Amino acid sequence: MKNKKSVFSLAISSLLAVAMITGCGTGNQSGAGQAPQQPQAGQDAAQPSGDKKTLVMATSADYQPYEYHDLSSGKDEIVGFDIDIAKYIGQELGFEVQVNDMNFDGLVPALQSKRADFVMAGMTPTPERLQNADFSVIYYEARNTIVSKKDSNLTKPEQLAGKKVAVQLGSIQETAAKELAEKVEGLQITSLNRIGEIVEEVKTGRVDAAIIEDQVAAGFVKNNEGLQYTVIESPETNGTAIAFPKGSPLVEDFNNVIKKMQENGEMDKLINKWFRESE
Ligand code: ARG
Repeated sequence: MKNKKSVFSLAISSLLAVAMITGCGTGNQSGAGQAPQQPQAGQDAAQPSGDKKTLVMATSADYQPYEYHDLSSGKDEIVGFDIDIAKYIGQELGFEVQVNDMNFDGLVPALQSKRADFVMAGMTPTPERLQNADFSVIYYEARNTIVSKKDSNLTKPEQLAGKKVAVQLGSIQETAAKELAEKVEGLQITSLNRIGEIVEEVKTGRVDAAIIEDQVAAGFVKNNEGLQYTVIESPETNGTAIAFPKGSPLVEDFNNVIKKMQENGEMDKLINKWFRESE
């Protein structure tokens, strides 16, 4: 009886083993002949497939030179400093990048709901964001500036008393403006989704000024004769890092590539390409 039982269970387990092997085999081929699937965030990281895996990068492509829509080639392409870094990391780690453009204040929620594998958007790691996302090491530093009309004489925070100031919704500039409003009397804040809209508000005079990071402000001022920007003096800079869903296994691998880029000159090359060449 004892013997019989073990023969029986052996038979069962061999059957199971065969089923598993066959199951695996068909699983591997299930993609063949089908239309390429839209990559979904979080799905592909561990997928054993001959095809290169795809990671979804969410961004707010209103942030030249970090990420913006380039229409010059006749097609709409999202390009920039962050995109080049993402592609380099992808090459090193063996994944393709799919860039999804959304409003800035939707980026951390996209990570939380696993609609994105990572976010690159000139994003600063703040204590609040660190509660809902993990961050890579910092790969660039920015400073806040005041953007205003040349003839406005608005260059310093204290001059914003009684003025309308536009900032990006969900950005650290919005937080900075709120903090400023506690000290500077009558400062009114307009929060908008896209940096382009913010600059438009300054140009038309619907707001008096905007708070925007230096490299981005420089680009807008260059293209708009009547505008100026002045760096807000501060001991702190705004670090820029890559954000991930909390607990993401990607953080360490990304950090290793960023460090490599900082050591092998690739990061400086990209900084020169996107931030210096146009100056
Ligand atoms: N560094 C700022 C922040 O983290 C602004 C980033 C805005 N980025 C963008 N792609 N619009 O809040």
